[in-house]
Amino acid sequence: MALVIAIDGPAAAGKGTLSRRIAEEYGFHHLDTGLTYRATAKALLDARLPLDDEEVAEKTAREVELAGLDRSVLSAHEIGEAASKIAVMPAVRRALVEAQRAFSRKEPGTVLDGRDIGTVVCPDAAVKLYVTASPEVRARRRYDEIVAGGGSADYDAIFEDVKRRDERDMGRTDSPLRPAEDAHLLDTSEMSIEAAFQAAKMLIDAALKENI
Ligand code: CDP
Ligand code: CDP
Repeated sequence: MALVIAIDGPAAAGKGTLSRRIAEEYGFHHLDTGLTYRATAKALLDARLPLDDEEVAEKTAREVELAGLDRSVLSAHEIGEAASKIAVMPAVRRALVEAQRAFSRKEPGTVLDGRDIGTVVCPDAAVKLYVTASPEVRARRRYDEIVAGGGSADYDAIFEDVKRRDERDMGRTDSPLRPAEDAHLLDTSEMSIEAAFQAAKMLIDAALKENI
């Protein structure tokens, strides 16, 4: 049976960066589930379809192909906002969770990151990490990312955006963002990417040993 590592946490906590390193280290497949919500949102925006029609959004979600997901074409701020809006709809979540679960069964193992992997998508995951950092640190990371890419950014606006996204993700009724009871908490506020990876690796290796 495929071994699953579930990584959840709020926006810009470092889930994606950590998941890619972990997948590489263990030779596992990786799925950034945020991209499935973003791809659905982009398809709706491109076709000028409404973001508040659950049936239309579900149909669009069912057409998303996991194989072609690419963060570079899905990274726009408007797409992230639209993604978190359609992510409150149960029919959209059901459609995407189905595809994510199918992916999680790939051998020899998978790393899935998102908001509800340990709680809903893969509740039986071998290892669950809840990666977090303070809102200030997460806003600073997003800001640095934009500036490093040659763009201009407004830290205060990004900070407000991070807080609004947290509220929406943690406050929704269907699959709110929260740590699974058996998740290991990893606060990366004061950690470099390398330090976070080493801490995660220790937790994963210990959990895998117990699982054998
Ligand atoms: O990159 P960022 O942290 O901004 O967000 P993302 O992972 O790309 O996800 C975009 C939005 O999709 C999130 O704000 C969530 O509302 C939603 N999402 C979700 O509801 N469940 C997941 N497993 C992944 C993302
Ligand atoms: O996937 P998620 O939205 O949780 O975050 P990410 O895209 O992996 O990380 C957001 C930004 O924070 C990236 O530019 C990372 O390089 C940076 N980061 C960091 O500076 N320190 C960490 N411990 C983790 C991530």
